[in-house]
Amino acid sequence: MKIDIEEIEKRHKIIISKGIKLNKQVKKDGYGYQRTLDIIDNMQDIIEGLPEDTKIDIDACIIAGYWLDVGKGANVENPEKISANMLSDALAKENYDKKFIKTCYEAIIHHRWNMIPNTIEGHLVKDADKISFIGVERWRECIEKKQRIDLTMKLLSTLRNEMLYFNISKTIYDEKIVDLVQFLYDYIFN
Ligand SMILES: [Fe+2]
Repeated sequence: MKIDIEEIEKRHKIIISKGIKLNKQVKKDGYGYQRTLDIIDNMQDIIEGLPEDTKIDIDACIIAGYWLDVGKGANVENPEKISANMLSDALAKENYDKKFIKTCYEAIIHHRWNMIPNTIEGHLVKDADKISFIGVERWRECIEKKQRIDLTMKLLSTLRNEMLYFNISKTIYDEKIVDLVQFLYDYIFN
């Protein structure tokens, strides 16, 4: 499918800027702004690999991508729910219609690794989010800030084989893991 990300970001400028602002305030290892950018990139790649007639609300996916972890913080038990509610409230304030708000809500609410999304938008957001675990820039940021990310290593095969929904997501994963190994190799030996 074709996607014009700039057009989407222009269309939803206010809501996306709010998401970015909130996102930058999240204080948790591995949840920097770089990760959000990775997620949006991954979404673009997955969408471009989907058949042209796929029924999916791309605008909702992109907005959800910017908001998916805004509710993340210390001692938060269900950050997915908090993020989904925060986004719903913000969309309602901007007078988005109810159906679209629900699509955005559903796109976020089940994105944790052991949850199963119940909409195609939810699957897309979850796949893009999970692929971001192996993003080179995210690893670079975590290494520079001395944040623990190596624990993620144990989850990688499960992540690829059991958590990703779309076949195209697995293909993207396979390309990205090569980049990550190359990055780590260079980091260690240079
Ligand atoms: Fe999350």
